[in-house]
Amino acid sequence: MPQTLAVQSHQAVCLITLQRPQALNALSTELLAELATELERCTHDDTIRAVVLTGSRKAFAAGADLNEMAERDLVGMLNDPRQAYWQRITGFAKPMIAAVNGYALGGGCELAMHADILIAGEEAQFGQPEINLGIMPGAGGTQRLLRAVGKSLAMQMVLSGEPISARRALEAGLVSEITPPELTVERALQIATTIASKAPLAVRLAKEALLKAQDLDLASGLRFERHAFTLLAGTADRNEGIRAFQEKRPARFNGQ
Ligand code: CAA
Repeated sequence: MPQTLAVQSHQAVCLITLQRPQALNALSTELLAELATELERCTHDDTIRAVVLTGSRKAFAAGADLNEMAERDLVGMLNDPRQAYWQRITGFAKPMIAAVNGYALGGGCELAMHADILIAGEEAQFGQPEINLGIMPGAGGTQRLLRAVGKSLAMQMVLSGEPISARRALEAGLVSEITPPELTVERALQIATTIASKAPLAVRLAKEALLKAQDLDLASGLRFERHAFTLLAGTADRNEGIRAFQEKRPARFNGQ
């Protein structure tokens, strides 16, 4: 049983809630380890087709656990087990939606940005305040933030340490929708349920292709897209999807 997470199944969607209220969901080693393990369980469970990750009304996550960080010197950071947990978390291949309320700061903002889709409550705040501590983002903050919001706003956030509001995050393209805080999880579950009803192989390859757009030049990205598109022609779900359209009935995808 995880100590720092609550896990609930909503049919084909797994809802994972970060639960360290005493530290505003700061990402302790234990929390990262439990999250990595839970996501791997979701990976191996064919009945789970999407994940929603959330925190509390006050905090999605307030960053790395600063009490733990205070105990690590340079050698401790070089051997930091959290790096391996982050890698396991960011390797998750099924669709993930972050439902963000309250503070998403430092590692908390980086964790939210790892999700494929971000839905934010109106009072959410996104920030990379590491500079206030004499450090800098270390779990994707400089790389993913710049790709999400562009150079000027990413520089402003990382170099000043000042957070942005949910509305600013929406304008900048960091989040795709904002909701009243009490509806954020519900909206994320709705979107995840819609995605979970689609053909899993198509969802997986579409996600992979979209992520490649951030890393590859256009010609390589288009090549990957064409290969993935062609590969799907060999799936039973593709035949079912087209047949269901012709027969004017909902498709029944089975992941093959
Ligand atoms: N680590 C450990 N504990 C934390 C924490 C953190 N990141 N953030 C908050 N807490 C704890 C506080 O110490 C406090 O505990 P006590 O009640 O025992 O004192 C409790 O959570 C509530 O916090 P506050 O009293 O500070 O609440 P607030 O509403 O006044 O302020 C806040 C909220 C603005 C988020 C403030 O807590 C804050 O600035 N937290 C630190 C944010 C931060 O700097 N994050 C970046 C960390 S570095 C990082 O993330 C790098 C990385 O991953 C690679």
